[in-house]
Amino acid sequence: MNKIQCAAVTLLAAISCTQGHAPKILVLYYSQNGGTKAVAEEISQRLGADLEAIEAVEPYGGTFEETIQRSMQEREAGVLPEIQPLKADLKAYDIIFLGYPVWFGTYAPPVAALLEQVDLSGKKVVPFCSFGSGGLDSSSRDLAQKQPGAQILPGYGVRTARLDAVPAELDHFLKESGFLEGEYEKYPDFSEVRLVSAEEAALFDAAVAGYPMINAQAQKVSSRSVPQGNEYLFEAEDLSAPATPHIIKVYVLAMEGQEPVFTQVLR
Ligand SMILES: Cc1cc2nc3c(=O)[nH]c(=O)nc-3n(C[C@H](O)[C@H](O)[C@H](O)COP(=O)(O)O)c2cc1C
Repeated sequence: MNKIQCAAVTLLAAISCTQGHAPKILVLYYSQNGGTKAVAEEISQRLGADLEAIEAVEPYGGTFEETIQRSMQEREAGVLPEIQPLKADLKAYDIIFLGYPVWFGTYAPPVAALLEQVDLSGKKVVPFCSFGSGGLDSSSRDLAQKQPGAQILPGYGVRTARLDAVPAELDHFLKESGFLEGEYEKYPDFSEVRLVSAEEAALFDAAVAGYPMINAQAQKVSSRSVPQGNEYLFEAEDLSAPATPHIIKVYVLAMEGQEPVFTQVLR
């Protein structure tokens, strides 16, 4: 591939210049099962940023099914969980990395509860999340709508099944978005969208096999080369709700010598 090495132009340096002080960064997150927590710790460690967990007064415990049950009941009743008061004074921070698991396509309820209580106007907010299949896009949209005075920057999301990929992906993400200094490889743009070949359709099927929540048929694709392989962006017809036909977008990584995996679904 055409390798372009880029030195990150740090956003932090730019903010320091305009504000006259080094920006203060808080990594604030909710995590039920530790996936988002692992991402939060990695970000705070790499940036030397403060770290705080959002805690529900009555923690979501128990099994996956019990958590689904409780949060569905809360959604139907239109109630949000009570959360513990934050220790950090948000006013002291310029940049907030806000982390959460994706629940029902958006940030988990303890984060929704926090967003009812705080005003992030004037701050740069970087969403990050872990999910079964996706939700960075939809949760970021919800965040922008909920906190219109905040500047919501592009975020980072990872499947729980791919937490091993977090250190390398975060390194790239933090450098590309200007939070970390250092060289990183700038990936080429995706190609023009084309109809899928039989081989690409098989690659899509292999990538989503084993994930029962995705029942879709690849129709179009674009691709680009990334280190040690190719990344695909598929457009697929969602077959799970035939009454309301619609297209989902699915990112797939096909690395040399490895089975293809999907990295994120956009709905
Ligand atoms: C109540 C509930 C709803 C969920 N909804 C979604 C969803 O809409 N989309 C998705 O991709 N994953 C969904 N998940 C999976 C979680 O996003 C995923 O397991 C996440 O990594 C958990 O993060 P944690 O380990 O930080 O708690 C849901 C999980 C729960 C418990």
